[in-house]
Amino acid sequence: MKTLVIFFSHAGDNYSVGNIEVGNTKIVADYISEITGAKQFEIVTHKYDGMAYGSLIKLAQEETRKGELPEYEGDVDLSGYDTVFIGGPIWWGTYPQVMFTFFKKHASDLKGKTVIPFTTHEGSGLASTVQDVKKAFPGAAVKDGFSIYGHDVRTGKAKVEKWLKGLGW
Ligand SMILES: Cc1cc2nc3c(=O)[nH]c(=O)nc-3n(C[C@H](O)[C@H](O)[C@H](O)COP(=O)(O)O)c2cc1C
Repeated sequence: MKTLVIFFSHAGDNYSVGNIEVGNTKIVADYISEITGAKQFEIVTHKYDGMAYGSLIKLAQEETRKGELPEYEGDVDLSGYDTVFIGGPIWWGTYPQVMFTFFKKHASDLKGKTVIPFTTHEGSGLASTVQDVKKAFPGAAVKDGFSIYGHDVRTGKAKVEKWLKGLGW
């Protein structure tokens, strides 16, 4: 089984955990790779580099409201994978808009494949991500998602292990 972790994560000013060098979701993505051996594709944009939390919150709200699709760097060929984890922070009730840019580009690439959503958040859990992933990838087998508080990830490896064990890893 070939497995990939696709994720977005924002390092820098973070309200709950201070100014972080590695984003919360990246830490979870790294746990997943360590445990399952999955390769990674990180959705990267420099649009938010160095932004203060308050400004980012406002910008992200606008992007979500308008359904903007910011560009990301590089890309990945999904044809060789049969299981794909998709993870990101919750921004305004769902994944950051740049992830939807990725979803749109790859909408037909996950037919017949297993998709496993996960999030980091500060209270919203999975919010609407599982429904949004189902909508974005018609024909994919989307499993129940996993969510973890961003401020818990650094001490939360055991939770990730338990979740993955439940999925057969
Ligand atoms: C722009 C923005 C919007 C956010 N909106 C929500 C939200 O609606 N619900 C929630 O629980 N957390 C929200 N958060 C908190 C993040 O989901 C949380 O800090 C997450 O762990 C960040 O992950 P990252 O470090 O991988 O980017 C928001 C954070 C930002 C920066």
